[in-house]
Amino acid sequence: MSTTEQRVALVTGAARGIGAATAVRLAAEGRAVAVLDLDEAACADTVEKITAAGGRALAVGCDVSDSAQVDTAVARVAAELGAPVILVNNAGVLRDNLLFKMSENDWDTVMNVHLRGAFLMSRACQKHMVDAGFGRIVNLSSSSALGNRGQANYAAAKAGMQGFTKTLAKELGKFGITANSVAPGFIATDMTAATAARVGMDFDDFKTAAASQIPVQRVGEPDDIAHAVAFFTGEQAGFVSGQVLYVAGGPLN
Ligand SMILES: NC(=O)c1ccc[n+]([C@@H]2O[C@H](COP(=O)([O-])OP(=O)(O)OC[C@H]3O[C@@H](n4cnc5c(N)ncnc54)[C@H](O)[C@@H]3O)[C@@H](O)[C@H]2O)c1
Repeated sequence: MSTTEQRVALVTGAARGIGAATAVRLAAEGRAVAVLDLDEAACADTVEKITAAGGRALAVGCDVSDSAQVDTAVARVAAELGAPVILVNNAGVLRDNLLFKMSENDWDTVMNVHLRGAFLMSRACQKHMVDAGFGRIVNLSSSSALGNRGQANYAAAKAGMQGFTKTLAKELGKFGITANSVAPGFIATDMTAATAARVGMDFDDFKTAAASQIPVQRVGEPDDIAHAVAFFTGEQAGFVSGQVLYVAGGPLN
């Protein structure tokens, strides 16, 4: 591919939150962006932000845990926008509960969206990256990968994302493909708002309490994560691979 050709990025879970901010940021970096989420119509806001700024974007409805939907979505992106050579596996859900109350469905849902979803999307996109001799994969992990009360399912999935990332880095490096992981701390999104609601706290109070435990004394914003993803997906980041970057306003114990 010529260096003037626009590269295509695919961001999962991009209708809102971290995924939406990442899609907008990658478009600002000059990428065409496939904005993928469960409901195609829900992607309209993100697509509109990108196109209003002069970028190219495509809304794609897809459940990342369904292999047929993933293969169809990736083929559609390749046909309508171009071969996806940048992949951000961001789609995620929580099903928090203490172990003794955690159902098998809580466990399977979290594993399926985070791990199976990242596996299916990466498998479907890698052939486009190999053909291009260039690829960037970023997998969203979490500070919860280090262990977090009430999140046995999510902590296991997010730790799994790190092992998955390092393996992709080793397998795919020879094709010009890097794989890295971004592990956010507390980021203000619908996901953390839902956690506040679940524990019966006002979201502002919840954020204030979280910020008091963070060295930089604030919670993160989706753009904080988009910035890290932009670095890993950059043209000049080709020698940075298999890394896990905690973006949490300080070190984690
Ligand atoms: N918010 C935080 O504090 C935080 C911290 C660490 C890691 N993360 C991770 O960052 C990522 C984004 O989190 P967020 O806070 O923006 O969450 P969010 O709930 O605001 O957004 C997640 C998006 O993923 C989509 N999604 C869920 N299941 C899907 C599926 N099967 N197929 C396609 N899309 C699906 C949702 O529809 C939603 O638009 C997640 O992987 C999350 O685990 C978030």
